[in-house]
Amino acid sequence: MKIVLGVGGGIAAYKSAELARLLMQEGHQVQAVMTAAAQEFLRPMTLAALTGRRVLADLFAIENAIDHIRAAQENELMVVAPATADLLGRMANGLADDFLTTLYLAFTGPVLLAPSMNVNMLAHPAVVANLETLKRRGHRIVEPGVGYLACGMTGPGRMAEPEEIAAAVGREAHRRRDLEGEVVLITAGPTQEPLDPVRYITNRSSGKMGYAMAEEAAARGAAVVLISGPVALRPPFGVELVTVHTAAEMRREVLDRLGPATIVIKAAAVADFHLSRVPPQKMKKTAARLSLELDPTPDILAELGGRKGDRLLIGFAAETENLVEEARRKLRVKNCDMVVGNLVGSAEVGFEADLNEVVLVTSTGETVTVPRAPKREVAERIFDEVLKLRLALHAAQ
Ligand SMILES: Cc1cc2nc3c(=O)[nH]c(=O)nc-3n(C[C@H](O)[C@H](O)[C@H](O)COP(=O)(O)O)c2cc1C
Repeated sequence: MKIVLGVGGGIAAYKSAELARLLMQEGHQVQAVMTAAAQEFLRPMTLAALTGRRVLADLFAIENAIDHIRAAQENELMVVAPATADLLGRMANGLADDFLTTLYLAFTGPVLLAPSMNVNMLAHPAVVANLETLKRRGHRIVEPGVGYLACGMTGPGRMAEPEEIAAAVGREAHRRRDLEGEVVLITAGPTQEPLDPVRYITNRSSGKMGYAMAEEAAARGAAVVLISGPVALRPPFGVELVTVHTAAEMRREVLDRLGPATIVIKAAAVADFHLSRVPPQKMKKTAARLSLELDPTPDILAELGGRKGDRLLIGFAAETENLVEEARRKLRVKNCDMVVGNLVGSAEVGFEADLNEVVLVTSTGETVTVPRAPKREVAERIFDEVLKLRLALHAAQ
């Protein structure tokens, strides 16, 4: 694969020499591009010798004229390692004030970013927002590790090891646009079931897993419709967002948009009960105890299972115990092709958390464990398994 290796001016620039060597060893063609600051940390000669190519750095050097456009057109993947706070800011905001950022704007392929910086810099709201923007753009982040940092502090911010970044490049090289032509319908977030005009019942789903699924599907070339309950997330770029509040609204939107869908992913945590007759006025506070009689909401997943056709139906099971058994039961009862079981109730994974660990059970009898990872990486593994399942189901026909 033809790869641009962008190197920013961070202390981890020394690791990008090893990354260049690994990528070359794996048979890729590597074009190194350095920022001015990067050259304070690593001499271009090192990368030129390792890649066998002149390093591109100076936008205005006569011999580099329009090379930034040529490099953007000729290469298939861009990796930025280390991605400094400054580079993340410039890329997120579309600045083009040096060779690397100008090339980035002209580049249309997949982008991998390996951030590296001091703990407090990484946690700064400006950096968090820039990373968020870049993720929503479909770029993949090779998450920084936790450890001793050059600044003397310990915590998250250390650039992922070159082997890990090279592995992410390898996955990207194989994956690329393998969901092109698919129409993926995804539900995400909680629902809100009103009790009166000002109160409602809901649950702790943040929508992060469903949104990560939407981001991943769009990055892999699918047309994505995301039907979302109320969440505090911005939708990924290029995804059609439909917002709903109640389970009944979610059901209506899902059924309305089901036609063209080839893969349906029900990641939303839909309320199981609601108040059928919502009083038109706010309930008054009285000293007496209040009892509410709730009715079951429509079972959207079961309904979809009953009219599945050729499409793949993937359900989610959020459980606090007996995960695999519950996922298998749901798979059978709801006629799904796959159920993604995840444990909820702990602060580190599941609802509201940025990480997840899941068990996938399939209608072909497979059980696949996806270890703890950022939700976007978990989404990546789920789609890998969905595509494998599609092949297995076709082969069995
Ligand atoms: C010794 C030293 C180490 C630095 N390490 C980092 C770092 O790890 N991450 C980072 O974002 N900035 C780091 N900086 C700050 C950047 O070099 C600075 O923001 C620069 O403008 C980045 O330019 P660039 O993004 O164009 O490469 C460091 C600066 C110095 C002097």
